[in-house]
Amino acid sequence: MSQPDVMDKLVSLCKRRGFIFQSSEIYGGTGSVWDYGPLGVELKKNIKDRWWHAMVRSRDDIEGLDAAILMHPRTWEASGHVAGFVDPLVDCKTCKGRFRADKLEDARCPQKPSKQPGQHEACALTEARQFNLMFKTHMGALEESASVVYLRPETAQGIFVNFLNVQQSMRQKVPFGIAQIGKAFRNEITPGNFIFRTREFEQMEMQFFVEPGTDMEWFETWKALRMQWHLDLGLSPERLRFHQHSAGELAHYARAAFDVTFDFGGTLGYQEIEGVHNRSDFDLTQHQQYSSKKLEYFDQVNNKRYVPYVIETSVGADRVTLAALVNAYREEAVEGEAEGRVVLGLHPAIAPIKAAIFPLTKKDGQPEMARRIVEDLRGAFPVDYDETGSIGKRYRRQDEVGTPFCITVDGQSTGDNTVTVRDRDSLAQDRVDASQLKGYLAAKLVG
Ligand code: GAP
Repeated sequence: MSQPDVMDKLVSLCKRRGFIFQSSEIYGGTGSVWDYGPLGVELKKNIKDRWWHAMVRSRDDIEGLDAAILMHPRTWEASGHVAGFVDPLVDCKTCKGRFRADKLEDARCPQKPSKQPGQHEACALTEARQFNLMFKTHMGALEESASVVYLRPETAQGIFVNFLNVQQSMRQKVPFGIAQIGKAFRNEITPGNFIFRTREFEQMEMQFFVEPGTDMEWFETWKALRMQWHLDLGLSPERLRFHQHSAGELAHYARAAFDVTFDFGGTLGYQEIEGVHNRSDFDLTQHQQYSSKKLEYFDQVNNKRYVPYVIETSVGADRVTLAALVNAYREEAVEGEAEGRVVLGLHPAIAPIKAAIFPLTKKDGQPEMARRIVEDLRGAFPVDYDETGSIGKRYRRQDEVGTPFCITVDGQSTGDNTVTVRDRDSLAQDRVDASQLKGYLAAKLVG
């Protein structure tokens, strides 16, 4: 076991401190669907904003898109999802458990002692049957086969069908990309591990359209850029590694595929958080065929037409949020204190609260000064005000949710307008003029 298993502690912290709650909890919960609470929504939004900034805002060769979740049903025939987005499913007639036939070695039968499904004498597994992972619903008033629509199982197809709309309206030239962030839905047979594998999740996908023949070079470029993005997010280098898809793992249309994997610790270990794929011209060619609309690019300079190849980068917003939380969670002793502390050492740029402001006491004008600082900083950063409990307790509360800075207004503050700023990780305290706080924090929060 490489890294410690912190999942149970994290699930409890996330609920207790308002990061993530089970969906519809008062009704007993919905299987593998989660709600983001006040701090979780900030954390995930910060991660999505960083991705959007890196992929769209900071480049002139990638355009943004927000395509609808419901798409024409032919889309999913063309993409291969209707025929092929299936997992082999087996049921156990004894324990009523349901397992993926191709992942039995990773599954555990509910009967004791813990064994692989099929290994107890009483196990009665059915033959494997193919189970399509797409959620089906109906559009309009009639529930008939003609009105079937699907909740998209990936955001990518919204990009492919808009390839020419974006290219022509934005006058882009190949190579260029289209990026979007949005919900995807999969009726996973064996979801689990908190927000790692869920039935409703968010993807951040980018399809980069390139001239055939230049695809492997672009593939290498995107592989490197995407790994760097995860490092810049603060994920520890020793927990990140690539996994190359073997010939057996590759989708039939893929020319190459690498996963960025992260070590979640415990028995989960290294798991995919992002896929970088060379999808060849498969998707655009399929959509051309099924829609009977040309999806070619005209290269004016060289006077030639072609269907571009696609390099795809596809990352789960929830999975990266989980990776960031697992990576950040630590328990440590505090010198001179019997009780240790739990810290979420999140990268300051993604921490849900950037600074907490405390008056040391509830008198001598300290709460009023602290409130003024809150109002001053609020326009620039999410901040929190806390005047309850000992200062040590207030520090602990903020450490546990990853707040990088705690600002204390003390007896000296009302006299000389200075406050202490305590750093979450080093515990070092700086004395800073209250009028300089915004700039002081901004300089520390960049990156
Ligand atoms: N368009 C390509 C595509 O969808 P994928 O490997 O199936 O590829 C990409 O998914 C990413 O989406 C994964 O690396 C993972 O981060 C995320 N993802 C996929 N299924 C998920 C699920 N059930 N729950 C949470 N995240 C999921």
